[in-house]
Formats: sequence, structure tokens, C-alpha cells
Amino acid sequence: MPLAAEQFSGLTHLGSGKVRELFAVDDADGEPAILLVASDRLSVFDVVLPSEIPDKGAILTALSLWWFEQLADLVPHHVITATVSDYPAALQPYASQLVGRSMLCRRLDMVPLECVARGYLAGSGWLDYQAAGTVSGHALPAGLQDGSKLPEPLFTPSTKAAIGDHDEAITRDQAGDLVGPELAAELERLTLAVFGRAAELAADRGVLLADTKLEFGTDASGTLRLGDEVLTPDSSRFWPADTWQPGRAQPSYDKQYVRDWLIESGQRGRAVELPPDVVDATRARYVEAYEVLTGRSFADYLAAA
Ligand SMILES: Nc1ncnc2c1ncn2[C@@H]1O[C@H](COP(=O)(O)OP(=O)(O)OP(=O)(O)O)[C@@H](O)[C@H]1O
Ligand SMILES: [Mg+2]
Repeated sequence: MPLAAEQFSGLTHLGSGKVRELFAVDDADGEPAILLVASDRLSVFDVVLPSEIPDKGAILTALSLWWFEQLADLVPHHVITATVSDYPAALQPYASQLVGRSMLCRRLDMVPLECVARGYLAGSGWLDYQAAGTVSGHALPAGLQDGSKLPEPLFTPSTKAAIGDHDEAITRDQAGDLVGPELAAELERLTLAVFGRAAELAADRGVLLADTKLEFGTDASGTLRLGDEVLTPDSSRFWPADTWQPGRAQPSYDKQYVRDWLIESGQRGRAVELPPDVVDATRARYVEAYEVLTGRSFADYLAAA
């Protein structure tokens, strides 16, 4: 059964993202917390498809939790616990729907920026470069191709669009205008630090981290924390290093199967059911991303959850 907010009728529903259901919770100390429940929904070209990818919510949660640990010395994160038996009593009736796919987090006042770092040129960065020769106001050498490595990783923030809208790339100066120059500088420093650490860990596993999107927010005591999901195939481009070849779109550990299938069948941007083989191949790709990056088995994660 697809995950839906109605299955949690006793909880305060804060909202639905494209992928997650968000609920308000008070944690044991009475601090405002938030329960993030990752569904198996898949959004492609900014459209949520009617088909789900089995276990995708658990995979994204498992991978985010692993990364938060790897990054904890660089930046505090929002996770309180993902062990359902440790959740507050009010959540226990829903335990079976929460296991593996949920995280109890500090409720943050989210910074209204998508903090993007790019080590390679792809996606909207590649489009912006072709149009203007720059990415988020950073001047770049001529002659770069789709998939080229950038001279150094860049902070390329974008606005957080309202539902249905596309995020809009902005310059660092515009980010400073939006959130204040000091916070913008701190976000740039943290985003590049996280990107650097993650790119290093991924490289050890034969994976290139092309780009990633982070979200930050401040907790009740004013501490800036890393929130949302981190370094998943939904928020990042991961490429197998051995097939990297600038000048074309790169094979990647994400929903590329789905994008390709939608384009080839002339249904780009439409909310259509996926054939079972596309669902299976996409699930396998997400599992592979988790297992390659963490060196852990996804079956073990599920068994321990
Ligand atoms: N600790 C937190 N406190 C409050 N909000 C959070 C926290 N962590 C993540 N969020 C918000 O929860 C939402 C996650 O849901 P989901 O990933 O489905 O959204 P999305 O579709 O990617 O984004 P959008 O909100 O733009 O639709 C995001 O809006 C994110 O900003
Ligand atoms: Mg999201």
C-alpha cells in the first residue's frame, strides 16, 4: 500500500513533500521535533509518478543516516534517532509503517536556500554554462563539456521553489541578499566541506560525486544544522568512476533509467505508470548506490531496522 498521510491519522501532519510525509512531534524533552517519513515515491522531471519503487524510502533513509555519521565532525545534523522503539509513545501505534524509512529529527527553521555544490558540470549547471559561460556567477574556462570536472568544487545555491515550481539558480551575492552575507558565507563553507568529505569517501569506492544539494536550518537554540536527506541518489549525482567520459550524459546511480525510458517513449514530464522492468532496474540501482557507497548490505539494514 502506498504511504499516505491518512495512515497516520492521530498525528499532526505538517505537510507532504514530493517524497516525504512530515509530522510534528514533541520529543522526550518537549522540544519541537519532526518525523520525516520517506515514501517510495519517485519524482522525475519534477513530476511525481504513480508508480513507486519498492524500498526506495528505506534506502534513502539508510544512506542519509550513514552520511550524517560520516559528516558529524564537520557539521551538526538534525537526526535525534531513527530507532523506532526509541520514538515517543505517540508514534508507537505506527511503528510498523515507520521502521527503516523514518527519522525523528529536531524541527529546524529551514534556510530558504538549496545549498548546491558541484565538482563536475552536469544538469542545470551544464545548461547554465552553455548559455552564459558561468555557473551561479562563477567564471569558468571555455571548452568544458557535459560531465567535465570543474577546476575546483563550486557553491552554486538556488532558491527553494514553491511546489510545482522549479528551483532557480542564483549567485552567491544573491544568496547573501536573501539570508544575509554572514550566513551565506557560512553555508558556502559548510557545503564545500561536506562536498569535499563526501567526494573523498565516494572516490574510495570508485564513485564520482558530481554534485549534491544540501539543506540547512537552525534549531531552537539557534544552532545551524544539516537537515533533510543527504548525499542520496535523489539529491546528488553519483557516477561510476570507471565509465566517466565527458562529452555525454554520464551513467549514474539514480533514476536515469526512468528518465531515459520516459524520453524514449515520448512521455517526458508526464505522470505515467512505469513498466515492471523499469521499476526493478531502478530499485536495483538505488540498492547498489547504498551498498557501493557504504560497503554495507541493504538486506542487513532492513533486518536490523
Ligand atoms: N529538520 C527539519 N525541520 C523542518 N523541515 C525539514 C527538516 N528536514 C527537512 N525538512 C523539510 O522537509 C521536506 C522534505 O520533504 P521532501 O524531500 O519530500 O521534499 P521535496 O519535494 O524534496 O521538497 P519540497 O519541500 O521543496 O517539495 C523539505 O521541504 C525540507 O526542507
Ligand atoms: Mg527533498
